[in-house]
Parts: sequence; C-alpha cells; structure tokens
Amino acid sequence: MAATKTYLTGIQTSGMPHLGNYIGAIRPALEAAREHDSMYFLADYHSLNSVRDPAKLRHDVRSVAATWLACGLDPERTVLYRQSSVPEVFELATVLGAVTAKGLMNRAHAYKAARDRNAEAGVEDLDAGVNMGLFNYPVLMAADILVMEADIVPVGRDQRQHIEYTADIAGSFNHLYGAGYAFPVPEGAFPEGESSLLPGIDGRKMSKSYDNHIPLFLPENRLKKLVRRIPTDSTPVEDPKDPDTSAVFQLLEHFADADRTAAVRKRLEAGGMGWGELKNELFDVLNGIFGPMRERYDALMEPDSELDAILEDGAERARARARATMAKVRSAIGIA
Ligand code: ADP
Ligand code: TRP
Repeated sequence: MAATKTYLTGIQTSGMPHLGNYIGAIRPALEAAREHDSMYFLADYHSLNSVRDPAKLRHDVRSVAATWLACGLDPERTVLYRQSSVPEVFELATVLGAVTAKGLMNRAHAYKAARDRNAEAGVEDLDAGVNMGLFNYPVLMAADILVMEADIVPVGRDQRQHIEYTADIAGSFNHLYGAGYAFPVPEGAFPEGESSLLPGIDGRKMSKSYDNHIPLFLPENRLKKLVRRIPTDSTPVEDPKDPDTSAVFQLLEHFADADRTAAVRKRLEAGGMGWGELKNELFDVLNGIFGPMRERYDALMEPDSELDAILEDGAERARARARATMAKVRSAIGIA
C-alpha cells in the first residue's frame, strides 16, 4: 500500500484573503483535504515583512483562519495552525540556512524585483529597503514545508520558484546528511491552465500588494462597487465581444458553473450583452457563493467564537509532528 501523501500550504496573514487566493490556494487545498492528510497554516511570521502594526497583525491572523473555516475547512480532518505556534520551524530554518547557497537567494524573484525597482527609480544602493526577512523568505518557506515532511504543496503559479527552491534545499540537506535522515522532496500542485492567475480590478494579477484585489467577504454593496471598477473597453452593447479578452469574463469563468459560463460566452459573442450586464452576472455569481460563507466568517470573527480553540488544537498537532522531524534532523547533523 502506498503511504498517504501529506498536503501543506500557507497564506500570509496580511489582510483578508481575496478571490485570487481562493482560486490559487484555498479551493484546491480544500478539495485535496477531502482525500489526503492536510496541514494548512497561517504564515504570520512571513507577513512580518509587510505588516508592522501589531493590532492589524492580530486581526489578520484571525481573519485568515476564519476564512479557511468559512470556506469549508474541517478542523478535525485538517490541521489548521499558526506558523508562530511551531518554534521548530525557525530552528529548522537555521539548519537549512547552513546548507543553502547565497547565490540561490540572489536569484529569487521577490528579491530581484525589489532590486529592479530600485534600479528603475535610480536608487544607487540596489538593496535599499530590502530586509533580511525578504531575503531569507525562501529558506523560511522551505522550513515550513520540510518540518512537516509535506509531499504536495497546493499554491498558485506565482509560488513555483519557492517550491523549486524548497526541493533544491531539501536536496542539499539530503546529499550531506542522507545517511542519517533525508527529507521527502515536495512537489507543487498548481491550478490548471495558463489563466489560473486571476486578474484584479485593474486587469493585472490580483494581489494585495497591487491593491487591486477583491476580498472574499465584503458586504454586498462594496462587492458590487469593486466589480463595477473592473476595466472594460468601449464596445457598444449591440456589438459582438471577445469574452477571452475580458477580465470580467475571466473572473466569471472561475466561479460560475460550466453551463452558465457557456451561456454568457454565447451571448457576448453574438452581441447584445453589454459589459454592465456581464458585471451584474459576475456579482450575482460571487454573491451566491460567498454570501452564505460571509455569515459564518462574521460569526467566527467574534472574540468568543470557537476560532481560538481550533487554533490551539491545531498548534498541538502540528508541533508534535514538527518535534518528531526536528529530533531526526538534530541527530543527523550531530546536535544532540
Ligand atoms: P498576495 O499576492 O495577494 O499577497 P499571497 O502571496 O499571500 O497573495 O498568496 C497566497 C496564495 O494565493 C498563494 O498560493 C498564491 O499563489 C495564491 N494567489 C495569490 N494571488 C493569486 C491570483 N491572482 N491568482 C491565483 N492565485 C493567487
Ligand atoms: N509564500 C506563500 C505566499 O506568499 C505563503 C507561504 C509561506 C507558503 N510558507 C508557505 C505557501 C509554505 C506554501 C507552503 O503565498
């Protein structure tokens, strides 16, 4: 019998998750959790690079946890925990740092992008504004994954390099210490299709860092407003339209069922359906999915909800697993 695979993913706690996070990470992860062992965590120390307001960080940790639960995570089946509850993650990050080439980190996308921004702005020191947290991010992420001996990591395509780095770092460790202990080398699981990166309300990739995102549990009127802001061209209502060039349609495709999507595609191509009507359609679909979840989310965000107890329980289960891995790692490297 094949050993069961463990699925693991994390989301930074830097605001309420958005539609892109849902498509890229939350929905596929919850589907996998029905059949596999799963561990989903709140990457609170990762978000320290961007969130410097303690009250906001406290709030965002609960918000991301409540989102997982409202979207259907079953805390009996899936271990839901805060990264910061598992100190072994940070211990392992130190060990991994010793077997990771600095050159690998120099080539990491997020770090390179920060340097490019400085170059473009004419800043002489290309590392200006770059902290060690950003530079070390891939090592910490590798520790998140390896400390749980995860096999499969469901994430959006933008995380592909991070997963490759994790496999690389695991490989270096295994090469040096494989006689004593070897990490399972994890793989990414990416949503299918080139268009699996969801566009935001300005047409670029939806991301908190671009401030173009649609958070999952907005009140109806705010959701409607954001959907209205998605850019469209000025093709008149009567004219035929190419659905595949429209960000609104791309969003609809990810959330509406196949029949509804096909019907809308047909009407756009035939002419007679305006962008305004398409936006109403999108709002309707989104509100239908996230409206009921929003109620559960709001209840979980109350200070006395079961949320904190669920996280405590998850922390214990996650820590037990991380301790077991660290015991093997320590013995393999010669730290008693
Ligand atoms: P953000 O870019 O908003 O800060 P994160 O980096 O915290 O989002 O992403 C958390 C998860 O959501 C990752 O698995 C990431 O790949 C996925 N994700 C983020 N934005 C998108 C998007 N626009 N489309 C698909 N998946 C996304
Ligand atoms: N880097 C991921 C993101 O920005 C979040 C993350 C941190 C993560 N640690 C992880 C995802 C471990 C998967 C596994 O989206």
